[in-house]
Amino acid sequence: MTATVQSAAATAGHPGASGVDHGPLDTAALRAQFPILSQSVHGKPLVYLDNAATTQKPLAVLDAVDGYYRRDNANVHRGVHTLSERATAAFEGARSEVARFVGARDSSEIVFTRGATEALNLVAMSFGAMVLREGDEVLLTEMEHHSNIVPWQMACARSGAKLRVAPIDDRGELDLDAFEKLLGPRTRIVAVTHVSNALGTVNPVARIVALAHAAGAKVVIDGAQALPHAAVDVAALDCDFYAFSGHKVYAPMGVGALYAKRELLDAMPPWQGGGDMILSVTFEKTLYNVAPYKFEAGTPDVGGAVGLGAALRWLSEIGIERVAAYERELLDYAEKALLDVPGLGLVGTAADKAGVHSFMLDGIHPHDVGTILDHHGVAIRTGHHCAQPVMQHFGIAATARASFAVYNNRDDIDRLVAGLLAVQEVFA
Ligand SMILES: Cc1ncc(COP(=O)(O)O)c(C=O)c1O
Repeated sequence: MTATVQSAAATAGHPGASGVDHGPLDTAALRAQFPILSQSVHGKPLVYLDNAATTQKPLAVLDAVDGYYRRDNANVHRGVHTLSERATAAFEGARSEVARFVGARDSSEIVFTRGATEALNLVAMSFGAMVLREGDEVLLTEMEHHSNIVPWQMACARSGAKLRVAPIDDRGELDLDAFEKLLGPRTRIVAVTHVSNALGTVNPVARIVALAHAAGAKVVIDGAQALPHAAVDVAALDCDFYAFSGHKVYAPMGVGALYAKRELLDAMPPWQGGGDMILSVTFEKTLYNVAPYKFEAGTPDVGGAVGLGAALRWLSEIGIERVAAYERELLDYAEKALLDVPGLGLVGTAADKAGVHSFMLDGIHPHDVGTILDHHGVAIRTGHHCAQPVMQHFGIAATARASFAVYNNRDDIDRLVAGLLAVQEVFA
């Protein structure tokens, strides 16, 4: 299927953030760039709707990683030979690509990590240790992924700080009034997801940053589910930290990044020791390297970073605004189609959603839904989605979740719906 959706910017004749103006989005051509999608599962053409868990990788990424290992592989930063210089250039080039994509002022504000989880742990361990004292408060929301809960619980246990949680309502939207009331003189850190992986809710992060800063708190944004779906500009948002995973944005697994304001990185202590994060070591004293290197102990995943740079370049060439507009239309189509399935209830009906529809089928356990759909070639995720407090809010143990990427189309959604009707027949 060829989509002809254009962003408002493109329709108005303006180039997107990438500076490139392309015309209509050709999703059939886009899909052809993903070799994994052309296979059959249980004899049916694969429909992959588990993109919030991980996205598939385009040829541009596969080729970049393959080319790196075929031509340039060497350890970075310490070598004088040609391959090491090439590997270092590729690694630092990827850092610049990340900085450009998220709107950082400088590539030194980008720390490579294993993913969003490690980025959030870095902030909790390093920044948390620096600022949190007994009686201080860390404010989260009820819709956080475990990766943005557990590191803060650990930081609170170490420091004697308290965790506060801003509630969500029954549509899955943050209660902003309650959030504002929970902000106080002891709030040091606000940690909030940009987009909920369990509900699809898009949080008003610019407003959250403004409120938190007015209260004197620093803001950590978990961008794992936002970066694949919308333009992010950390400088305009004025957030203090922004964490994301490469594998959810068409890049390999095992690599991600943390954006942090340079002055914060300069002030923060390292959180892991080892090679590359030092300037000099004696048994008496170690002098640490400058940011971002002081947060990157040990040999990094250079191939992964190269793949991440390639993925973000690939997305920029498509135009992230066009991706956002196309996915918005797809999400609306999916919502209407799902609501036509008798006995289906959406979990998470926020006015602003991205990438995800979570749902329940009356009388059928989500795991059964997912297992039977798999036999129809349709891959979705079922479970608590590492967001058990969200499940507790809705009084359920699990949902079925269909999540979308730029290579999905209306046919995929029609196949999902046909699969759901088949599930109901099995249980009829
Ligand atoms: C909102 C959110 N935050 C954090 C994470 C953790 O990402 P990773 O496992 O790639 O570190 C996920 C993964 O599903 C997520 O959806």
